[in-house]
Amino acid sequence: MRTMSRITRFVVFSLLLVSQAMADTMVDDPEIFSPDGRIRFSLEISDFGIPRYSVTFDDELVIEPSALGLRFDANAGLDRHLDIATVEHGSSDSTWEQPWGERRLVRDQHSEMFVVFNATEGPERSLGLRVRVFDDGIGFRYELAEQGHFDEVDIVAELTEFRIPLDARAWWIPGRAWNRYEFLYRESGLDEISLANTPMTVNLPSGTYLSFHEAALVDYAGYVLDQRRDGVFRTNLTPWSDGIRVRRATPFVTPWRTIQVADSAAALLNSDLLLNLNEPNALGDVSWVEPGKYIGIWWAMHINERTWESGPKHGATTEETKRYIDFAAEHGFDGVLVEGWNVGWDGDWFYNGELFSFTEPYPDFDLDAVTAYARERGVRLVGHHETSGHVSNYERQLEDALDLYAAKGVRQIKTGYVADGGDLVRVDDKGIRHLEWHDSQFSARHHIHVLEEAAKRKISINTHEPIKDTGLRRTYPNWISREGARGQEFNAWGKPPNPPEHTVMLPFTRMLSGPMDFTPGIFDLTFAGADAEQRVSTTLTKQLALYVVLYSPIQMAADLPENYGRFPDAFQFIKDVPTDWEESVALAGAVGDFVVIARQERSSPDWYLGAITDEHARSISVPLTFLPDSPRFEATIYRDGEGAHWRENPYSYHIERRVLASDDTLDIELAAGGGTAIRFTPID
Ligand code: NOJ
Ligand code: CA
Repeated sequence: MRTMSRITRFVVFSLLLVSQAMADTMVDDPEIFSPDGRIRFSLEISDFGIPRYSVTFDDELVIEPSALGLRFDANAGLDRHLDIATVEHGSSDSTWEQPWGERRLVRDQHSEMFVVFNATEGPERSLGLRVRVFDDGIGFRYELAEQGHFDEVDIVAELTEFRIPLDARAWWIPGRAWNRYEFLYRESGLDEISLANTPMTVNLPSGTYLSFHEAALVDYAGYVLDQRRDGVFRTNLTPWSDGIRVRRATPFVTPWRTIQVADSAAALLNSDLLLNLNEPNALGDVSWVEPGKYIGIWWAMHINERTWESGPKHGATTEETKRYIDFAAEHGFDGVLVEGWNVGWDGDWFYNGELFSFTEPYPDFDLDAVTAYARERGVRLVGHHETSGHVSNYERQLEDALDLYAAKGVRQIKTGYVADGGDLVRVDDKGIRHLEWHDSQFSARHHIHVLEEAAKRKISINTHEPIKDTGLRRTYPNWISREGARGQEFNAWGKPPNPPEHTVMLPFTRMLSGPMDFTPGIFDLTFAGADAEQRVSTTLTKQLALYVVLYSPIQMAADLPENYGRFPDAFQFIKDVPTDWEESVALAGAVGDFVVIARQERSSPDWYLGAITDEHARSISVPLTFLPDSPRFEATIYRDGEGAHWRENPYSYHIERRVLASDDTLDIELAAGGGTAIRFTPID
């Protein structure tokens, strides 16, 4: 089949499906094609009965034969002495609607294959493998049926491999390291990688892009890519503190191992692979989950103007909160986040997680008064639970803590798990303290528990220092955002702060996994305490463009309210930009260099565009074909001004209005470290 043209392949493939539907008990070839015929996934049994898969894209071998399997602590695993027992094929084409998202309607068109491997030696046992192939990539997962030999299993290794052509380039952050996912992305050859977090994006010499990740990480350990041999990456599951990777009872399914496959870097951004591989909404009516914009008593602490802890500079005072609420009400923000409101921040909070109370406010923060004040002004308090990684302390108080906020009308809580990688605290039934990873099975379970308890009270969760996003927002739409990469906070104190390149790395790496609470919108780029190094390395209009580029259904205007007064015309864009979209399309981009994204507001004909660049100035021609054929649009363009430069001249910007239509091509000029933000409104 390899030599057939794409069309022939598709026809043959369709015929296969028809014939398979008629006789689906036959054992078919263990291979499967994407609906457009370009991606082929095939299986073979190699020496010692080890199952291997490979992937081709057109005629290019993009994943060389790579092992599959699970190893248990008992003698018999499911990693060798296996043979194919049955192969079933199917296909599906449906469209589903997101309660909120980058696009309202998502098409799920895929081919499917389910293979059962039986053991040829040792105890009777079997391994199921479900494979789904979409036009934009592949997902496969293990499915373990209930079987005599494995009632409860302790997985000590998952042996799934991704064998990548050696001359690939990769964009990645280290895996299982102290700062979790908060590292600067690196570009390198494969030889520099040992352990890498996912998503990891690679570019093959042919030009093909791949991105490796996982979908639906439920009751299982996250994995990091572990380069075991040159070019051979294994799913290294994050262990519990006792070394076991995953504890499960059969039957169960693993998360999907995903490989996005695309012709271009921008095409990676237009994929719904992860969402399509997640289960539908499990929460029923979720009209109470509210996308929107918020401000907060937050940046002031990061730049040392205020403190989380009590004392003369305490940020979370009743008075200060009311000032923020007034500002939110005046400018149309939905929420005001208040950090440092609860007892526990005094002393070394990073290490004293057990001291946090999630129900006891500091005496100078009157929870009743601020929530009542907010309610009168049509604004909500956004709650905050910093656990500093003491998960057991949080779980002990969780229900009371959620009840308290729910009673005060809080609909959204930002949680935080500040602790070094591997330092989440779990206290067992006997009172013994264990240290766990942020992406362990323990953590995966904890986050779902929090979401379910929050959902009972119509509360949405925005997790900082989270487990990685694997598309679970589809199943739990109240998982409204998360951090999980270096956010804006690094510009206040990170060594180094985020370079201009960071925000053009994120879309092609971290953001492939889902929304991020990056918290854009800093206008005072050289805040008090900043210096030549420690500052926000951006032009002013790049901060605006980030609202379109870095998707999140909740977006913060992160600066101090008083700083928006300096540039009210630019602030208008932050007030206007929505956070919930009918459609999104990445138009152009190169990893770590630049990106251009357009999105249509949900329930509105308005479109928005964001374009950002790294430390290099550049001109980009953008055909406006994403706009409908008619009408014409008035474009309000917020762009870098004369001589703008992120370091030398970041406040030079220009706002202009132009009439544009879908057959126009717009030339966008980006300054070094700059960006352009555009709002398109129909005019006829
Ligand atoms: C880290 C979070 O990312 C940040 O947003 C928050 O302000 C601090 N933890 C304190 O909770
Ligand atoms: Ca953080």
